[in-house]
Amino acid sequence: MKNYPCPAPFSQLYVLPRTMLDLRFCSYHQPVFVNDQKKMYEEGTKGLNHFFNTNRELIRRREEYLKGNFIEGAGCSPDCFWYCKWKTSGEGFSPDDYKSDSGDYLVRKLWLTIGPDCNIFCRYCLDPKEFHIDYNTCDLQVMDLARDFVAQGGEILLTGGEPFLPKFKLSQVLEQLSNSEDVKGEFEIHTNGMFLNERNRDLILRGPVRSVDISMDTLRKDLFEYLRKGADFDKVWGNVLSLKKERDQLGLKRPRIMLLCAVMTDNYSHLVETVEKAIGEGLMISLNALFKAYYSPDFSGAHGLHNLEIQELRKLYDDILYLEETYGPTGPVHYHGIKGQVENLIESKESGSKGPQVVLGDGGEAKRKASVKTLISRGKFKPAFMKLARNTIGPRLRGNTISLLRQGKIKEGILNIFRN
Ligand SMILES: C[S@@+](CC[C@H](N)C(=O)[O-])C[C@H]1O[C@@H](n2cnc3c(N)ncnc32)[C@H](O)[C@@H]1O
Ligand code: SF4
Repeated sequence: MKNYPCPAPFSQLYVLPRTMLDLRFCSYHQPVFVNDQKKMYEEGTKGLNHFFNTNRELIRRREEYLKGNFIEGAGCSPDCFWYCKWKTSGEGFSPDDYKSDSGDYLVRKLWLTIGPDCNIFCRYCLDPKEFHIDYNTCDLQVMDLARDFVAQGGEILLTGGEPFLPKFKLSQVLEQLSNSEDVKGEFEIHTNGMFLNERNRDLILRGPVRSVDISMDTLRKDLFEYLRKGADFDKVWGNVLSLKKERDQLGLKRPRIMLLCAVMTDNYSHLVETVEKAIGEGLMISLNALFKAYYSPDFSGAHGLHNLEIQELRKLYDDILYLEETYGPTGPVHYHGIKGQVENLIESKESGSKGPQVVLGDGGEAKRKASVKTLISRGKFKPAFMKLARNTIGPRLRGNTISLLRQGKIKEGILNIFRN
C-alpha cells in the first residue's frame, strides 16, 4: 500500500505539555509520556526528532500503521476525518515524502495544546462547576521550544486553553521571531479573540503567522455570549474586523483570518446566516460538529447534533450542500468531515437508533465534582447551597438578563430570570 490516510506518523507530534509531557502522533491516539521532560525542553527540536524516531511505542504504532493496521494496531480512530476521507477518496500520503536525507523521519508539524488555562469558560469546553480542571499544570518552558521549532522551519498549530493568556508568553515569542532574521516556519493560532488588542494584532501582522483562527460559533451576540461564557461579542468581533482591516491596509495577503464554528443544536438552524456574514466581511470559516469534550461532557451530550430530529438533520444537510454549491468545496468554508457526520446521523435515525455522539480522541471525562446530594450527606451545606443556586439560576442567566443586572435594572433582571 503506497498511500496512507494522514502524514502524522511520519511528520507530526501532538504535544500536550502538562505535569507530564505527552508526545503522540495525533489527538486520537493514546498518550505517550516522556520520562525526562526537563531534558526534552533543553534539547528542543533535536530532542523531539530523536524521540520521534526512537521511542519504542511510537515505532510500534508507526510499523502497525505502515502495515495498514490503522485502527487495531496503530490506535487510529474510525471517526478520524483523514481516515474517512482516505477511505472514500483514496487520496493519501506517502512516507517516502517525509524522510530526511539520513533516512529518518523529520518532525515538520506540532499540534501544541497549551492550557487548559483560559480566561473564559465556554459551556462545551471548560465546566469548572461540575468538573475538576487541572489549571496551572502546563509547563511554560514549552513556548521556548515552540519558538525554536518555528524559527528552524517547523509549523505549529497552537491551541489551548487560550494561547494569548499572558502567562504563556506568546506575545513575547512573536516579538522575538518578528525581530529575528531567517525565521523559516510559521504558526497557525486558535484563539478566543479576547486578547487580540492592537499590540497583539501588530505582532501577528509582523510575525510568522500563517493563520489566525478565532472561535465564533455564531454571530448573534446573545447566543455567542451564552455559549462562550465570559467572552464579549462586541470586543471579539471588533478585534476580528480590525485585524482584517489592518492586514488589508498593509497590503498583506496573510495571515488568513478564519472563524471557527462548532455546530450544535443551538446554532445549526442559522448556520447559513453565520457563514454568509463571515464571508461578507471577507473572512473564512471552518465548521466542525460539537464533540464530546473532556471537561464538559454533559453539555456536549445534551447539545451535540445527535440530539436533532431527522427533519432538523436533513435541513442542516441541505444547508451544507447549499454552502458547498455556492462557495465550492475548497473555498472560504472548511467542512472538516461535518457532511459525512451529518450523513451518518441521518442514516442512524432512519434505522431507528438515536445516532452516535461525535467523539474526539478517547472521549474520556475529567473527574466529576461532588453532587449536591453528596455534599449535603457530608454536611457541606454552604457549597451545596451555592451549587444548588448556581444550577437553578445559572442556566437562566442569558445575555440580556446579565446586561439588565449589570445596568442595575434588578427588577427587570429578576423578572427575566423567571421568564427564562
Ligand atoms: C479548545 S479551543 C482553544 C483555543 C482558543 N481558546 C479558542 O477558543 O479558540 C480550540 C477550538 O476547539 C473548539 N472546541 C472546544 N470544545 C469543543 C467541543 N466540545 N466541540 C467542538 N469544538 C470544540 C473551540 O470552539 C475552539 O474553536
Ligand atoms: S473553547 Fe477556547 S476560549 Fe472557550 S473555554 Fe475552551 S479554551 Fe477557553
